[in-house]
Amino acid sequence: WPKDVGILAMEVYFPAQYVDQTELEKYNNVEAGKYTVGLGQTHMGFCSVQEDINSLCLTVVQRLMERTQLPWDAVGRLEVGTETIIDKSKAVKTVLMELFQDSGNTDIEGIDTTNACYGGTASLFNAANWMESSYWDGRYALVVCGDIAVYPNGNARPTGGAGAVAMLIGPKAPLALEQGLRGTHMENAYDFYKPNLASEYPMVDGKLSIQCYLRALDRCYTSYRQKIQKQWKQAGIDRPFTLDDLQYMIFHTPFCKMVQKSLARLMFNDFRSSSGDTQALYQGLEAFRELKLEDTYTNKDLDKALLKASLDMFNKKTKASLYLSTHNGNMYTSSLYGCLASLLSHHSAQDLAGSRIGAFSYGSGLAASFFSFRVSQDASPGSPLDTLVNSVSDLPKRLASRKRMSPEEFTEIMNQREKFFHKVNFSPPGDTNNLFPGTWYLERVDEMHRRKYARRP
Ligand code: CAA
Repeated sequence: WPKDVGILAMEVYFPAQYVDQTELEKYNNVEAGKYTVGLGQTHMGFCSVQEDINSLCLTVVQRLMERTQLPWDAVGRLEVGTETIIDKSKAVKTVLMELFQDSGNTDIEGIDTTNACYGGTASLFNAANWMESSYWDGRYALVVCGDIAVYPNGNARPTGGAGAVAMLIGPKAPLALEQGLRGTHMENAYDFYKPNLASEYPMVDGKLSIQCYLRALDRCYTSYRQKIQKQWKQAGIDRPFTLDDLQYMIFHTPFCKMVQKSLARLMFNDFRSSSGDTQALYQGLEAFRELKLEDTYTNKDLDKALLKASLDMFNKKTKASLYLSTHNGNMYTSSLYGCLASLLSHHSAQDLAGSRIGAFSYGSGLAASFFSFRVSQDASPGSPLDTLVNSVSDLPKRLASRKRMSPEEFTEIMNQREKFFHKVNFSPPGDTNNLFPGTWYLERVDEMHRRKYARRP
């Protein structure tokens, strides 16, 4: 099989407008700090009515192909992960084929994958599996994930966001997926789902969703550790895997506070499988050793003790990965990969070289995996790692160039999205100059629900 299959290049897209969470707290009449401190969110990106999931994905793929300057026929597989469904049959992937038209390349496998926020990871796994199979024809794969995360007025609304990530997958990658190391947990849960096909909004049981996320994290981490320890044993290494073996750790990020608690949760797992002589590492946790894991998800005292014990580790391993999420919000399928881009944008290639990055992907309903990337050793100028890191280094600058909208304007646009959802025979109102240059947008929906897109120069 080809060696070191993984991410060669990536591109991130987010909307050109945002609302400030401090202003949203005032507007929604909630206590100051609930969204900014309690949830850990400072800004939330959102789409106008001129954007939909197809336009987001068109933009991010076009930008990736232009930047890498790859010929369009170099792609042999294109996978899309999304839960922003505007058609129950027609895949976003088929819309993206429009971009390949001039090249004549139609021999491109892959369609859409949907299960809440997990579709991007399933697409990444599909692409890697293809590349390590007899069906691989030597070409690259593209993995595209994107979503528009919107909620009705209420306590979930500040956990929205929007964005898309495209990744070029190939062998000899600077971020290689570690072979044989995926810990997965799947079960039937109604924590967040979208049964209402006439609306963009999900049904969500917020508290249950948090417990489901944490339970899935425990299970996935346990099975990942078992698998890596087995690999180690075969290589003659006999010791437990701990967070010390991960230089960085990224998570699906519904809101940033959740991620800080999740890293703390992993530390709790390490602590529970540690022997008494490691107590110094886990100060303040001894009182919680005997609790049944299932009883710990809503234990506020444990939460506090864990956050304290894991703070240094959070600052070192995870905090930098939350930059985009803090400023843009949840991007569902693309959230984890936005975290990866943020992590890369806040470190030099030299810092990252040779490290292991742990990744936890969670999709409600539920499907979850814990896996890892091994970063290449070569960080020299012009190396694939250096090129990848440089390509995302402008993320903070790009986020700062967005337009700030008031909570009133944000609410008005949410109302417009409700009004125009599934409307036919219309052209979305709005000024395309409000989009970033080069953005694809929805130009018209005809009477047969056929969608036509154009690109802002
Ligand atoms: N200052 C500081 N902190 C404050 C505060 C203040 N003035 N007021 C409240 N807080 C804190 C609270 O103490 C709480 O923190 P802790 O949990 O650490 O105690 C935090 O702010 C949030 O407050 P509430 O729990 O009262 O918030 P809520 O119940 O109104 O809503 C929510 C929170 C349930 C997450 C809701 O926003 C929601 O349903 N969001 C969508 C679901 C979601 O994101 N689930 C996450 C897991 S599922 C998943 O990951 C898939 C996905 O992408 C959706």
